[in-house]
Amino acid sequence: MVISGGTVYTPAGPKPLDVYVTDGKIERLEAWGSASDDLRVDATGLLILPGAIDVHVHSRDPGWPEKETFGSLTQAAAAGGVTTVVDMPNTLPAVDSPEILRAKVERAQSQAVVDFALWGLLRTGSTQAAIEGLARAGAIGFKAYLGYAWRHSTRQVLYTMDLDDPDLEVPPGYRTLARLAPVVASTKLPLATHCEDPEILIASSQPILSYQDVLRARPAIAEGIAVAKVGALAEAHGMHIHIAHLSSAEGLAAIRRLAGSGSNVTVETCPQYLWLSDEDAPRLGTLLKMYPPVRTAADRAALREGLMRGQIGMVATDHAPHTDAEKLGTSLADAAPGNPGVQTLLLTCLELAREAGDLRLAVRWVSENPAKTLGIFPRKGAIQIGSDADLVLIDPNLRTVADLAWMRSKQRHTPFDGREFGFRIQSVYLRGEPVGPVRGQFVTP
Ligand code: NCD
Ligand code: ZN
Ligand code: ZN
Repeated sequence: MVISGGTVYTPAGPKPLDVYVTDGKIERLEAWGSASDDLRVDATGLLILPGAIDVHVHSRDPGWPEKETFGSLTQAAAAGGVTTVVDMPNTLPAVDSPEILRAKVERAQSQAVVDFALWGLLRTGSTQAAIEGLARAGAIGFKAYLGYAWRHSTRQVLYTMDLDDPDLEVPPGYRTLARLAPVVASTKLPLATHCEDPEILIASSQPILSYQDVLRARPAIAEGIAVAKVGALAEAHGMHIHIAHLSSAEGLAAIRRLAGSGSNVTVETCPQYLWLSDEDAPRLGTLLKMYPPVRTAADRAALREGLMRGQIGMVATDHAPHTDAEKLGTSLADAAPGNPGVQTLLLTCLELAREAGDLRLAVRWVSENPAKTLGIFPRKGAIQIGSDADLVLIDPNLRTVADLAWMRSKQRHTPFDGREFGFRIQSVYLRGEPVGPVRGQFVTP
């Protein structure tokens, strides 16, 4: 097959090239007009981008089929130009052992329409054997939820830190990270951290009646302190720390202070922190609730600047679906944290990149840098010879309205409902074939 006549976003920039695909890989790239008609896919006027990689999604599978499944997650991903999803380990049972990871791979493979990788869980009770076993079983890295407890009886990660219950294990703290850092470092895999300092969260705990109470209960300084501490551990132990969902100017300031320290720290933020602020609270109500919270317009401006300057290397969605009843039919105090988002990743990033005058930025944020960070570059994340032919064909002159009819997640709510984006995804290829059938593969670093 050859996709011809499009503008191809290669690592060296946009080029007028025909893309030749053989056995699911990019075989060669040649100047326009080289292809014979019989195998041609006409991409005249379209942009050809490498498939996006969402390094932070919650499939809810196994565990909560009413929220999402690997099938519905990956269909939403495909519709949004995301050809690789990287699933977080807080499924049920949570992925804290190689056996659970292997079972999850089988389950995902039977439903996935795009490729997938899996994070393993690092919890307070994790052993060296569990971490090493997860690495051998193909985990892309480990995730530590600094602000979330663990329930032994159900093998579940909880959104709270109720420390009195004997069935609960306290969230992993800096002692756990320091204890396991040499093991993590020896695997060479990243440790993704949910950076909300548990002590600050406990000290800030208060009743939630308004959105401002959410911000007071989960203040930005909790993120700043957590980033500084995990950054110091990364430096001391030579491990790769990946900061998940950066949400604040304080967090970014802590990242800037790490620059030049020699620590291996990569950073992601999410479209919701780049597009929304507490000013949207009256409009969105409980839909705005997520951890860490969407903060102020000043935080949003700082994160945009950090992204433009490259201090934040990538954008991921933290696609975290919950049911309508858990999100909408309840109070701000009781609403579940998180929203679906995987389908709007590429469109939101293209829009920001166009504002900045360079669409290559979007490719860096959602393809190239994620792949490099996770050790899957250049198999994924680039249009170059030998890479997987994960390709997204985009019309830059048509628009997309991200309304509920367009969404493919099981959940039919999004804080981006009704927004218009100045691009349309025309077709998506996974390893050289149109995305659609269940043929997603497990991707290992
Ligand atoms: C996530 C979830 O629901 O799994 N929710 C969220 O608000 N971000 C958990 C997480 O990523 O911290
Ligand atoms: Zn998190
Ligand atoms: Zn998450």
